[in-house]
Amino acid sequence: MCGIIGCVGRGEDTLSTLLHGLDQLEYRGYDSAGVALVGDGDLRVAKRAGKLDALKAVVGDRADLAGTVGIGHTRWSTHGPPTDGNAHPHCACAGRVAVVHNGIIENYQALRDELAADGHEFDSDTDTEVVPHLVEASLEAGRDPEAAFRDAVARLEGSFALACVVEGTEAVLVARNDSPLVLGVDDGATYLASDVPAFREFTARVVYLEDGEFARLSADGWHVADAEGTRLEKSVETVEWDAEDTGKSGYDHFMLKEIHEQPRALRQCLRGRVDELGGSVTLEELPELDLDRAHLVAAGTSYHAAIYGAELLCDVGVPATAFLSHEYATAPPPQEDATVIGVSQSGETADTLAATREARRRGAETLAITNTVGSTMARECDHVCYIRSGPEIGVAATKTFAGQQTALNLLCEYVSPGPIDRDLIAALRDLPSDVQAVLDGSDAEAVGEAYIDSDAYFFIGRALNYPVALEGALKMKEISYKHAEGFAAGELKHGTLALVTPETPVFASVIGDGELARKTVGNVKEVEARDAPVVAVTDGRSDVERYANHVLDIPETHPRAAAILANIQLQLVAYHTAAKLGRSIDKPRNLAKSVTVQ
Ligand code: M6R
Repeated sequence: MCGIIGCVGRGEDTLSTLLHGLDQLEYRGYDSAGVALVGDGDLRVAKRAGKLDALKAVVGDRADLAGTVGIGHTRWSTHGPPTDGNAHPHCACAGRVAVVHNGIIENYQALRDELAADGHEFDSDTDTEVVPHLVEASLEAGRDPEAAFRDAVARLEGSFALACVVEGTEAVLVARNDSPLVLGVDDGATYLASDVPAFREFTARVVYLEDGEFARLSADGWHVADAEGTRLEKSVETVEWDAEDTGKSGYDHFMLKEIHEQPRALRQCLRGRVDELGGSVTLEELPELDLDRAHLVAAGTSYHAAIYGAELLCDVGVPATAFLSHEYATAPPPQEDATVIGVSQSGETADTLAATREARRRGAETLAITNTVGSTMARECDHVCYIRSGPEIGVAATKTFAGQQTALNLLCEYVSPGPIDRDLIAALRDLPSDVQAVLDGSDAEAVGEAYIDSDAYFFIGRALNYPVALEGALKMKEISYKHAEGFAAGELKHGTLALVTPETPVFASVIGDGELARKTVGNVKEVEARDAPVVAVTDGRSDVERYANHVLDIPETHPRAAAILANIQLQLVAYHTAAKLGRSIDKPRNLAKSVTVQ
């Protein structure tokens, strides 16, 4: 999704600060980029389709591109293809106003027709371009820049994070509605961005903007105001991670680093929340929750965590169902007693926000399970439980999936009407070291290599291992660009078995030696009989090894923890497959880290 950066007070480092911010925002996914700077009263703009290197090449050739106030943007196309002309910033006719935008302006066509009728000429296919023209029209009517910007925003319908600079004005004007924006404040300099990593190197002090709020950043400082221009009190918060957490620390890819960070991430998630001696779980952010029923809403990987979480809740006697958030937002089931749990790494996924908002509209209690402190979902829901994974930069979610699974285990014990599961508590205590054992002993690289030429991969698992199968397939698709499908193991024979051949490896998660494991071993035999290669992810308690071409071991533990470990083996297989294929692992084609449009 589009990324926004802006800064004031960085003097001659303004341009390099913007480019650094854009580098840090790359992980969100983009197809073009640009900057606008105001210096000595003049407004200068540079933008290019393609990767940031293309923009940097242009910027390097432009000695005039200097200024003390600036905005920058990485664009993820929604209206019009990724061309130089469609890249942001967008300017108005007279070139006095430049705007960057994340979101979708739903009434842009009507505004564009109206502005065109008044003589405004448009250069791009974007919805965004109406904004600088609206600001320009208001300036021409005699309004000052701040009022002109507010006038323009008042005409917009849809979602937007906007930043605007105006020739002759040493300030950045900002507005937010439904798309994330955060200010970074420091002595002397002020920043704004779609996400904290863009400016974390310079400051840890942040101010989260709410929907409907405006901000003005200038050399004199910053303030936040409402739509009428009335100033608002805002609290300054401090982020707890440092800039190094957003570097690769010697790993080839953020994804591999984040896979290896899982022991630490899970330790953080568990820290201070489990009292093993007393046999209790404390989630300090939550009040006592009385869950009669739960609806978990999420998308992508987080949806797989939601399926896992729903199964856990059902196990402890709380009826729970996982829903795709985009479906739930438009067609929620009529169970008004359900607490709605939004599961989202970013806390900014538009589909999931739409679902939690719909739940709130209907009067339901809402709870966010998220990694992102201060995110929209964290602020809008009645309650929040943080997974504490630390920043995740790779587009493919890894450590945050394990963090969601772990936090859902804690939530489940926290709300369980029955006695605490002491075996689970012991397994959670050992989970970080069990994850480390998986990482240290994994044969996933050899497995990835063995099946590198396969055109399709299948993943199967039952119960808690069903979301593991779905997630294993999603990881493989996202980063290797190979066809992959995940199934409940019993489902394979109801159709997809027709596609199973000696060229299609089947990954089976088989945990324990109970009935579920025995049935999955039965499914493994079915594919083995069709000469498909089998990769078993197992704790070695079933005899699945007999039918497997490769085995990926996990330590023996509680079945809920085993599902977390099994997934880590599949993350590694996907990673090594994609690495061998030379794919763009951290920024897969067409994908964005945080999907802020519906
Ligand atoms: O930030 P969220 O967890 O709400 O994001 C939801 C999905 O967009 C996300 O999980 C996506 O599927 C990941 N790229 C998966 O790796």
